[in-house]
Amino acid sequence: MSEHPADQDELREAGGGKPLLDALQGRTSARPPIWLMRQAGRYLPEYQALRKQAETFIDFCLTPDLAVEATLQPVRRYRLNAAILFSDILVVPHALGQWVGFEQGEGPKLEPVREAEAIDALELDGLTDRLAPVYEAAKRIGRTLDADVAFIGFAGAPWTVATYMIEGGSSRDFSMVKRMALGDPHSFGKLMDVLTEATIEHLLAQIEAGADVVQVFDSWAGVLSETDFERFAIEPMRRIVNRIKDSARPVPVIGFPRGAGASYAQYVAATGVDAVSLDTSVPLGWARDQLQPMATLQGNLDPEVLVTGGPLLERETRRIMGALGEGPFIFNLGHGVNKDTPAEHVAHLVDLVRGVP
Ligand code: CP3
Repeated sequence: MSEHPADQDELREAGGGKPLLDALQGRTSARPPIWLMRQAGRYLPEYQALRKQAETFIDFCLTPDLAVEATLQPVRRYRLNAAILFSDILVVPHALGQWVGFEQGEGPKLEPVREAEAIDALELDGLTDRLAPVYEAAKRIGRTLDADVAFIGFAGAPWTVATYMIEGGSSRDFSMVKRMALGDPHSFGKLMDVLTEATIEHLLAQIEAGADVVQVFDSWAGVLSETDFERFAIEPMRRIVNRIKDSARPVPVIGFPRGAGASYAQYVAATGVDAVSLDTSVPLGWARDQLQPMATLQGNLDPEVLVTGGPLLERETRRIMGALGEGPFIFNLGHGVNKDTPAEHVAHLVDLVRGVP
């Protein structure tokens, strides 16, 4: 919604009338665009009802009617500036042939891939055919959204997806994946190459289906040493960004190296991302001075503050907007929406960011 009438070319250059794309092109505005990581999900009663229509979570993700509806639910309810495709980072290991399941309340469970033979058995050929329902959902979403709402595609970063594949689920100490990365670098390197290529193909297919921007979630980047962060977080991401920028539709890329600390600076400088999503722990004065001159910033409200709501939510929202609002900025959380979040707190947050009294 630009203030001045513009012709189509000007509109496209200025982000096509989508405030999120304006911010990704480095433009600032008095009121930043807002969307939330994991904005769809169990905290919404309408999601809970929809979820019952598929037996497994993977089936849910791979049924276009359901994925489209889950994507649109939070956008409809809150008039957010972006829709993020409803899917999961673990559809990629599923499509590579690994068994992936989700137990109610226990998170993901995978048949662990730990030997060279298991890695060799992963099937990259035909990956995007097996994920065709995801791109079908993406096409329909792209056609449905209002013109000022951006559409975000996503994937897990190779390191984070590798942690689930090797650990067999969520982990506390990451010792299996680290033992393989450090003790069998040949096999681990092969796995990272397969995952980097799979991630690129999966993102390019979402872009072709209509995604305006993509985000890459490296949720476990924070457990890596400086050397390993460089090899397993920065290097694959640099390859991913390069391929997207060299493609027929070079859309903006948002990186989320959660927990990277001071290494956020090197990540931004070396990968070529257009924007970086800050986790809750990143000091905002440092981010403004060191990162914002290089990239658009996104984040970083603590999801637990959104659960608490009230004056704390107002104070923290003001603090973040005050610190980062002078440069290109997208309001978001520092991690995904918690399932215990009262739905009305999200409405309150959107009003605060939009300046609704
Ligand atoms: O943001 C959105 O609204 C899009 C949907 C989305 C999901 N997962 C749906 C989901 C996105 C962007 C993801 C990414 C994802 N998935 C990440 C990266 C972001 C992060 O949170 O760090 C990771 C690590 C995963 C893997 C994953 N999927 C876990 C650990 C879990 C279990 C935790 C949980 O909240 O239950 C999932 C399941 C999952 N993915 C759910 C949803 C809505 C809950 C499944 C259900 O409905 O029961």
